Amino acid sequence: MVARLVSAPFTRFLYQKWKGFSREVSSRELVRRARGAATVMTALTPPSAVKRVLLVVAMEQEVRPLVQRFGLEQIQPSPFLRGAPFVAWMGEVEGLVLHVVWCGRDPRFGNVNNVATTAASVCLYAAVAAFGAPDLCISAGTAGGFASSGARVGDVYLSSKCVFHSRRIPDAAGHLEEYGFGHYRSPPLGKLASHIGVKTGVVSTSDSLDAVPMDLELMRSEGTSIKEMEAAAVAWVCQTLSVPFVALKSVTDIVDGPRATREEFEANLEAASLVLQVKTDALLRAVAGTLLAQWANDGSRTAPAAPAAPAAPAAPAAPAAPAARRATDGTDGTTTTATNNSAPPPAAEAPRAIPTVVDSSSSSVAMSIGPDGQSFEVLRV
Ligand code: ADE
Repeated sequence: MVARLVSAPFTRFLYQKWKGFSREVSSRELVRRARGAATVMTALTPPSAVKRVLLVVAMEQEVRPLVQRFGLEQIQPSPFLRGAPFVAWMGEVEGLVLHVVWCGRDPRFGNVNNVATTAASVCLYAAVAAFGAPDLCISAGTAGGFASSGARVGDVYLSSKCVFHSRRIPDAAGHLEEYGFGHYRSPPLGKLASHIGVKTGVVSTSDSLDAVPMDLELMRSEGTSIKEMEAAAVAWVCQTLSVPFVALKSVTDIVDGPRATREEFEANLEAASLVLQVKTDALLRAVAGTLLAQWANDGSRTAPAAPAAPAAPAAPAAPAAPAARRATDGTDGTTTTATNNSAPPPAAEAPRAIPTVVDSSSSSVAMSIGPDGQSFEVLRV
């Protein structure tokens, strides 16, 4: 059939032209297309209201404040395979079913926290296998921030996208290279970020606390705000399992600042974990029962979704025309128009309207910045 069609003179002319064009496409163009594809595939926004959230956390110092704040119960006996070091808790926040999983410790090496990508991805996979796919997965934790991108110690960031900065896999077509880098787009949640008082930016992951010059160059070229050790690995699992994903990271240290990373990280871990606790609380209370698409843009770019009358469902954010999507790979990505969150089909159940006021008692945090301008203390949470 195709051969018959192609044999018609005019169709053959068009076909030859198309073939010629496709052969002439440069490898840079192929890379651009691969990035575009990754972008579309990874920014999943579910068509139904958020009712089940899964938090993945690497360090006990980060998870304890969360367990305490939400009054979570540890799930016992362990829902994981015998020998798996992961620990799971469950609870309820604003009507949401919340599961929190911590990657546990490794007794072979002084009982250290199971930080970095391997444990985080296996832990998340095991949690989804045990509890089912959530409506939203959050990689929550502490991180380094780039002062050159405006980050300060004590800031909290929501990911616009997550990448790997140390997986360099060059290949002829550029596909492995792009696979290595990852480009896991988070749902655009600018309005949510403004609502809970956090920043948005690119989160870059590797298995190292330090960074070699090539890592730094890649992060800089990507406009990275946050450097950490789990998010992109969790994002890969989420993309594979079609689970919407975002990273929420609290800054302990400044990657391009004067202090030694380990010292600054250790000095600020506790305070940054408390700030993370506060912002996680605000985020969960905000998204509970809403469509993620409702949080797509900040109010300055589009008219806010009309608050619904008590009995009526909130209007979902209007879909942008597909042509309006702007490729922003290589940038922060927060400028992306929300077309991949194209209008959700009617939800099975009415989503909750976006709350108009953040409960300040559960979201405010006062900090005292130390004389060095970088260490800080949480005064009120
Ligand atoms: N976690 C906290 N600070 C970090 C940094 N600078 N790099 C990687 N992970 C981190």
